[in-house]
Amino acid sequence: MTKKLFIKTYGCQMNVYDSERMVEALGGAGYEEVKTPDEADMILLNTCHIREKAAEKVYSELGRFKHLKTEKPDLKIGVAGCVAQAEGAEIIARQPMVDLVVGPQSYHRLPELEAKAGQGAKALDTDFPEEDKFDHLAARPKAKRGPTAFLTVQEGCDKFCAFCVVPYTRGAEVSRPVDRIVTEARDLVERGVREITLLGQNVNAYHGAGPDGEAWSLARLIWALDKVDGLERIRFTTSHPNDMSDDLIAAHGECAKLMPYLHLPVQAGSDRILKRMNRSHTAESYIRLIERIRAARPDILISGDFIVGFPEETEDDFRDTLTLIEEVHYGTAYSFKYSARPGTPAAERATVPAEVADDRLQRLQALLTRQQRATQDAMVGRDVHVLFEREGRNPGQIVGKSEYLHAVHVTSDRIAKGDIHRVRIVESGANSLGGILAPS
Ligand code: SAH
Ligand code: SF4
Ligand code: F3S
Repeated sequence: MTKKLFIKTYGCQMNVYDSERMVEALGGAGYEEVKTPDEADMILLNTCHIREKAAEKVYSELGRFKHLKTEKPDLKIGVAGCVAQAEGAEIIARQPMVDLVVGPQSYHRLPELEAKAGQGAKALDTDFPEEDKFDHLAARPKAKRGPTAFLTVQEGCDKFCAFCVVPYTRGAEVSRPVDRIVTEARDLVERGVREITLLGQNVNAYHGAGPDGEAWSLARLIWALDKVDGLERIRFTTSHPNDMSDDLIAAHGECAKLMPYLHLPVQAGSDRILKRMNRSHTAESYIRLIERIRAARPDILISGDFIVGFPEETEDDFRDTLTLIEEVHYGTAYSFKYSARPGTPAAERATVPAEVADDRLQRLQALLTRQQRATQDAMVGRDVHVLFEREGRNPGQIVGKSEYLHAVHVTSDRIAKGDIHRVRIVESGANSLGGILAPS
């Protein structure tokens, strides 16, 4: 009899990819995925530890499953991902109805852990095992799937930004070998995928073993994927400014499959704060880097991440961040109020008052929203290429993404999911663009 698995994913795209792989791993143990927790035999929360709010969500969500466990005592409840890694057995101490805790580097062992939990024991695995989990996961099934996919190529981080839990929850940087990635990409293309986003916490630090035994850069990997027939678009995220190598910058100008969108977080615009964040770059070096990238690919859309209210951030420091944003002009950006994370160096330092941080976040977001809106509005009248992914809200509408990752909706009966069409942008809405098929 097939058992039913409900999995809920929090956090970054790497968790989205991991969740897919966990579903596949448990598929071998007789599970199929379902869309609601009520019908599940096992509930898995794939969690994020990046900010306090993200971590606390897990416990409130677990609370909501209490009645299900009472009604159905055989129901297994598991916590995976970065909270599992960071808190381990504490999760079971705080929420005893949890049966299973598994970290991001050991989820290939899920079938064994599930069997253990099935015998009534608590199952915990937060090792950073020697073996590569990807070698131990079942081969990916061949079922048809949507036109876009994530593919993890690098995991972990050695940068140790003073605010960040990732080096602790995901461990040291590890890159997967080139041939495995190319094989996985080919399989995805056979299943209908036309766009792959290469993932890594520090993806541009990629240095996986190539077929020649040398360590290949991300740019070399992208050129290898460029040769995969049927793969039309390549993206990658997330990058660190210090790992934007010359060959990767050049690839943005030369590789037609590499899309003109780059997420390159800077976090702050004050050198004093960048230093305290242990970012090992300056505002000036970041701005020069953006100039070089734009010289290689003038239309590239730049995206970023920002933290406001980092310990000891003054009004002047904050204004330096606004100045940097004015200089760079972001097409889109994500901004966060600093959240002290246990075990990180910055957590020991004096914090900025909450109301000051709130006010800065609002001012920062107002500026970023203006830039995002201006970038989007400037698309009106232009032709873009859209990879269509799903039905829209209105009848006959179909939605996809442009090269620049803008959501574009078109009403037409001549478009199928998975198609790429040239689209003329005719309107710019709050979060998406509207277009018509461009006259050929
Ligand atoms: N590896 C990526 C992203 C890491 S997490 C990178 O280096 O860019 C995604 C974003 O969350 C970070 O870029 C940062 O802006 C934010 N973030 C990380 N730790 C945080 C913290 N303690 N408080 C607030 N925001 C944080
Ligand atoms: Fe965290 Fe910094 Fe590593 Fe990004 S580079 S994952 S922000 S430590
Ligand atoms: Fe969150 Fe872990 Fe990703 S902390 S952002 S899920 S790497």
